[in-house]
Amino acid sequence: MQREVKVNLAKELGVEPLGVGAWAWGTKNIWGYGQEYGRKEVGEAFRESVENGVSFIDTAEIYGNGESERIVGEMLREGGFSRETVIATKFAPLPYRISPRSSLDALDASLVRLGVPSVDLYQIHFNSPVPNKNGLLDALAEAVHEGKVRHVGVSNYNADATYRAYERLAKHGVKLASNQVQYSLLHRKPETNGVLDACRDLGVTLIAYSPIAQGLLTGKYAPGNKPSGMMRRFGSAFRESNLRRVEPVVDILREIGKTREREPAQVALNWLVRKGTMPIPGAKDGKQARQNAAALGWSLTNEEVERLDLATLGWR
Ligand SMILES: NC(=O)c1ccc[n+]([C@@H]2O[C@H](COP(=O)([O-])OP(=O)(O)OC[C@H]3O[C@@H](n4cnc5c(N)ncnc54)[C@H](OP(=O)(O)O)[C@@H]3O)[C@@H](O)[C@H]2O)c1
Repeated sequence: MQREVKVNLAKELGVEPLGVGAWAWGTKNIWGYGQEYGRKEVGEAFRESVENGVSFIDTAEIYGNGESERIVGEMLREGGFSRETVIATKFAPLPYRISPRSSLDALDASLVRLGVPSVDLYQIHFNSPVPNKNGLLDALAEAVHEGKVRHVGVSNYNADATYRAYERLAKHGVKLASNQVQYSLLHRKPETNGVLDACRDLGVTLIAYSPIAQGLLTGKYAPGNKPSGMMRRFGSAFRESNLRRVEPVVDILREIGKTREREPAQVALNWLVRKGTMPIPGAKDGKQARQNAAALGWSLTNEEVERLDLATLGWR
């Protein structure tokens, strides 16, 4: 089977350039955890991801107020996986957490919820509104030297902030590993706002979040058929006019996928891998996890990538 060229972070961590996002695990109001799906389903999503080659799990201290990390911890304790899991989590630099030490305290709390002595990737969830951003990066470099964190990443950083974070960490001999930003066929801003170029220039892996546009690129939602869960039901992405606008994109994904017996979401994820990024689709159950894992092991042709590039130019 053909293998993709692995992105830097994936290579260093020994994982495929595709992960699974755990935001929906334990998150009630936004995603409907505990109503439409629950602990059993997300446990299966975890297990099926790993068993199908997707061993990079992305969570955050704020997902479900810590519940996502707790579930990941339970699964790790349950064990029995045929390959090693790699865990990424995030620190939320909320305005009241002004001291750099607060990130180290938050890290300790995450480690307790996850039940592990260290995490593979610790990310700053968004650019801190507090003035002393360097202090935060210095503290995370310290956590690397203490062995509590293997790699440091950022998230939602613009190009300038990415360069600055890279330089600050480099002073401590730590390489900025990743910048996690929204990127999909329906959200191509990283290509024009300098973030993708900055990541390529620095050798920083771009981790693509909401890579199937929160379900829009699966083709299962259409005018008159909106998802449940507060955020998507009332969000602008799922209004009728947008659902209609997505249809021709999904048609192309279907057409491209047909010859390889792949679903639209799998084609959309493969497009991101072909851009040299590492998508982390959320999966709520085992079936979704298996389907998303099948975005790997094959590759879109250059012509197909170009066709999708052109078809979604208006989505920048
Ligand atoms: N750093 C940040 O600020 C940030 C922000 C957002 C997300 N993230 C990370 O990125 C991850 C993924 O982003 P996301 O959850 O926003 O969006 P996404 O991955 O684009 O969409 C996930 C949703 O799509 C549906 N889905 C997934 N796989 C499917 C499949 N094979 N078939 C049909 N439907 C499928 C599921 O919802 P339904 O079944 O209900 O449709 C799932 O919850 C998150 O879990 C989180 O780890 C990070």
